[in-house]
Amino acid sequence: MSRIFTGVAWPYANGPRHIGHVAGFGVPSDVFARYQRMIGNDVLMVSGTDEHGTPLLVQAEKEGVSVQELADRYNRQIVQDLAGLGLSYDLFTRTTTRNHYEVVQQLFRGLFDNGYMVKETTMGAISPSTGRTLPDRYIEGTCPICGASGARGDQCDNCGNQLDPADLIDPVSKINGETPKFVETEHFLLDLPALAEALTEWLKERKDWRPNVLKFSLNILENIRPRAMTRDIDWGIPIPVEGWEENGAKKLYVWFDAVIGYLSASIEWAHRIGDPEAWRKWWNDPEAASYYFMGKDNITFHSQIWPAQLLGYRGEGARGGQTGDYGKLKLPTEVVSSEYLTMSGSKFSSSKGVVIYVKDFLAEFGPDPLRYFIAVAGPENQDTDFTWDEFVRRVNNELANSWGNLVNRTVSMAYKNFKEVPTPGEITDADRALLDLADRTFTEAGEALAHSRFRAGITAAMHLVGEANAYIAAQEPWKLAKDESQRERLATVLWTALQIVSDANVMLTPYLPSSAQKVFETLGGEGIWAAMPEVREVEDDMPVEPVGVGIPEAGRTYPVIMGDYVNQKAAWRRFDMEPGTPLSKPKPIFAKLDADLAENGPEWAQVKKD
Ligand code: MF3
Ligand code: ZN
Repeated sequence: MSRIFTGVAWPYANGPRHIGHVAGFGVPSDVFARYQRMIGNDVLMVSGTDEHGTPLLVQAEKEGVSVQELADRYNRQIVQDLAGLGLSYDLFTRTTTRNHYEVVQQLFRGLFDNGYMVKETTMGAISPSTGRTLPDRYIEGTCPICGASGARGDQCDNCGNQLDPADLIDPVSKINGETPKFVETEHFLLDLPALAEALTEWLKERKDWRPNVLKFSLNILENIRPRAMTRDIDWGIPIPVEGWEENGAKKLYVWFDAVIGYLSASIEWAHRIGDPEAWRKWWNDPEAASYYFMGKDNITFHSQIWPAQLLGYRGEGARGGQTGDYGKLKLPTEVVSSEYLTMSGSKFSSSKGVVIYVKDFLAEFGPDPLRYFIAVAGPENQDTDFTWDEFVRRVNNELANSWGNLVNRTVSMAYKNFKEVPTPGEITDADRALLDLADRTFTEAGEALAHSRFRAGITAAMHLVGEANAYIAAQEPWKLAKDESQRERLATVLWTALQIVSDANVMLTPYLPSSAQKVFETLGGEGIWAAMPEVREVEDDMPVEPVGVGIPEAGRTYPVIMGDYVNQKAAWRRFDMEPGTPLSKPKPIFAKLDADLAENGPEWAQVKKD
């Protein structure tokens, strides 16, 4: 048994989630965590809503509400979206909890005490017309490193390097096109160069990373320099330094606090299960492994900033230092990133920009069709486009016709002829070949899942489904059923087919947990096969003392996602079909979608035609 920490990128609470978001971080991480639990590993999967930073300020202004009100609204909505998708978080929380503020301030103090937080006078951008500070990501210009235009003040999406707005060539404000004015302002910078050697050493030991992520991460090390971890902004976590914590106009940078959410959420989870030190089993044990899932625009923060924060806290950079109370915190084992899922809606649409919200999707189709689409046709290695035609084609041909139909006809025939799982007679070469393929597919799909190759994993499982359909077509059990002398052969064929349905269902469980539960029951199983997350209302009640102005009040309530995933029955192995197990008449598992949907999309996300 290994301990596997699964960190999932924290969505900004600035709107409901669309399918592009959940394709990047949500579905891949859940497939991974569910597989890890099925092979018997001890998984801790956490995340929450990211509620600081300019994305929230800007949206609150648009909606004419306070930032906390906005965060409350979308935290609640996102919790519903993600729970509805069946994402099995041990804890999905938020960054405006007192506990998160406390943990972030502790990490800052650790870094500060070890000398990795350096105070410097930097050049900050302000808008000449309003006099207000201009957030980095609202300034655009030419990248000083690669020369690409359209680089943002915080990052160049072309070369991936982090930037300072003052470095941009020809900077302009995205809000009104004016040229920002730069004025002196004091900030705390994380001394990344002092951590570069330790970072390089850690990166060099990384095996198994997707090559693009590793290459990218090594590459950005070459332009490493100190980065400001504080901002001129009034919404955020107070800087825990004397003289700074009471300054309402300066706060910690949103990315500094967001990544620390992985730790604060683990600590909150331990508190909520009544075992306050339990988080240490994933964070302080060098044998534990940690996997982080995100979209590609988040790589820098997980492969450089977060590990640097951890190394600095551990006192392992060039400046040395002590390890704080949280102990020797574990660095990421693997950073898994997805490319983008775009939503043009149709091959035939000219104008991009259909937004497909998770909420609407779930209300109409339930979680598994979307999970299936993302796993089999999502942006695992390259940007991909969601179209209704492909969605309909895959759901109808693959989920309904191939998988759904295999389950349905196998169980129907077994029920009709035997009312129970029949007792097989002599196993022939054809039966054996299929059973052996299933054995090999457990290994092949398992290997793929262990290495976050989700598409390969589901492709292997669906190949087995295809072979099972071919087996039934070749054995023609409906003909055997008409001939009393073939009764034993009929029993053998149906038993074999039922066994393969069960095997394939095991392998599809990480991807399609809700339908896997139904298939399990159709095969006569009882109890929880694949556990589902629950939404609970909790109180901000942890015994912590964050400091400064603008600390969240104690006693507020908020929704979290939690769940009991340990007691589910699903495991990554063959469950022998027991002759004599009663069967019932199966209900169809996947509804077929209408051809009209492929062409026009649903009412709530209509295809735009030329
Ligand atoms: N909120 C960020 C985004 O949507 C992701 C934060 S991931 C975290 O891009 F781990 F840092 F929280
Ligand atoms: Zn660049």
